[in-house]
Amino acid sequence: MYMYCFPGVKRYGLVMTDENPQSPVPSGLRIGDVPPDFEARSTIGPIQLSEYRERWLILFSHPADFTPVCTTEFVELARRAEEFEARECALMALSVDSLFSHFAWLRMIRDRFDVEVRFPIVEDPTLVIGRALGMVAPTDNDSATVRTTFFIDPAGVIRAMTCYPASMGRSIPEMLRMLDALQAIDAQGGLAPANWHPGDPLLKLPTQNLDEVFGAKDAADWFLREARKGKAK
Ligand code: BEZ
Repeated sequence: MYMYCFPGVKRYGLVMTDENPQSPVPSGLRIGDVPPDFEARSTIGPIQLSEYRERWLILFSHPADFTPVCTTEFVELARRAEEFEARECALMALSVDSLFSHFAWLRMIRDRFDVEVRFPIVEDPTLVIGRALGMVAPTDNDSATVRTTFFIDPAGVIRAMTCYPASMGRSIPEMLRMLDALQAIDAQGGLAPANWHPGDPLLKLPTQNLDEVFGAKDAADWFLREARKGKAK
């Protein structure tokens, strides 16, 4: 656990809970995992990951402040922040840079691009959080995190994740599409096919009943069927 060395100042870092009883070893988080809880300083004040339960959260890392690709990502995310809010989804960014670097970068973004980044950016100067979340490999000697994105549901479970290289920015429309798909899957109980977009039908879950397989109207209809809107189960 990292800590600030000023006496009387709150210590931040990983939070040990029943869900996360282990010491903060580097992890390879997977879909279905609950990420380890942490408390940290951020651009909106101290925050704790577990306080973001009961709504969706996109938790993402970026390699460094004041870099070109990251700047374009944050400008686009800030411009489209209302679209995430409309989906009851919070955004939380994380990098190795200090809180004061984050502040300076956000000030530059506001002055240069006329947009205010109001979602929190966590500081992780020792990478204890990035390593525990698997955003930095244990053997990496580079302090920069890659562009990892976790889509975390209201129960605190990772439902999807992406990983982009430092050299390539994330697609904000794709982040919104993934969120829409996950929310539609939960609301309707179906499956999102390739290239699904909001308004498209979901697919039904395939039957597990042989009589339905033999009774289906054609060779594929028992496992590949569109659901009627709002009725995917
Ligand atoms: C960028 O965001 O532009 C970037 C970050 C780290 C390494 C290279 C590029």
